[in-house]
Amino acid sequence: MKIIKNPNQLQKICIDLLKKKKTIGLVPTMGALHNGHISLIKKSVSQNDITVVSVYVNPIQFGPNEDYNKYPRPIEQDIKICKDNKVDFLFLPTNEILYGKNFSTYVFNDSLSKIMCGVTRPNHFQGVTTVVSKLFNIVMPDRAYFGLKDYQQYVIIKQMVSDLNFKTKIIGCPIVREKTGLAMSSRNKYLSTNEALNASIISKVLIQAKKEFTAHKPIISIIKDIKNNLSKITDCTVEYIEIREAETLKEAKENTKNIVIAVAVRINKVRLIDNIVCKK
Ligand code: PAJ
Repeated sequence: MKIIKNPNQLQKICIDLLKKKKTIGLVPTMGALHNGHISLIKKSVSQNDITVVSVYVNPIQFGPNEDYNKYPRPIEQDIKICKDNKVDFLFLPTNEILYGKNFSTYVFNDSLSKIMCGVTRPNHFQGVTTVVSKLFNIVMPDRAYFGLKDYQQYVIIKQMVSDLNFKTKIIGCPIVREKTGLAMSSRNKYLSTNEALNASIISKVLIQAKKEFTAHKPIISIIKDIKNNLSKITDCTVEYIEIREAETLKEAKENTKNIVIAVAVRINKVRLIDNIVCKK
């Protein structure tokens, strides 16, 4: 595995690989890699000749009072995980090299980035779409892998690829969970053992909501039940409960067949998101 810090160097390598008709898979991450990330890496390795993983804690997708500074950065561990999983290139850029002094061009989805997580994190998705565009231009991947854990991010990236004519195919990968049901996340490190146990109830609440949806319970009643069930979790405050059309994230109607039920909560100070996709 080769570690590369310079985007121009990586771009040259990727241009050469494409000339040799090699297929390239990209897995964008912010590091602190866990089994969720590893599932994306494994899928890329199985579907492409070459896999590039980026590990970069992207400052422009964090709000001023968010956890940019304390975000975990276990880089030696991440390098080992990438090596062990047959990654070909690990991209580790610095802020200085990725966002030069006069950086001022952003990619922004004007509708999808304003709903759900975008309400409390107003610049978050602009930061994501900007850095992912940069990565796509550097690596020019045939396929890029995104987890359904960040469902809104996945839909926004797919929309961006369609709107801006990127050649990359977006592959959505299922949510990897702890045995308790808690969706794996680098931010779970902030939870105490007790908080993690409490947080694991979120997934059970979503499974119950899915059952209600398939049993044709009205959406308004499902939301009520979710609210009630989440309120029983110790130290849990709800940021949002949303039931939306799975492909477009438009608000679901009673006759919508394909939905995503998404929640954002705080367990004490730790913000967690989870979702479940349902069909009827
Ligand atoms: P990060 O949170 O590190 O996640 C990187 C990728 O791993 C994302 O596509 C995310 O959805 C996926 N992922 C995280 N936890 C997962 C889980 N439990 N199961 C399946 N997939 C999971 O998402 C980001 O970084 C950033 O916003 C990024 C896209 C890299 C842009 O900076």
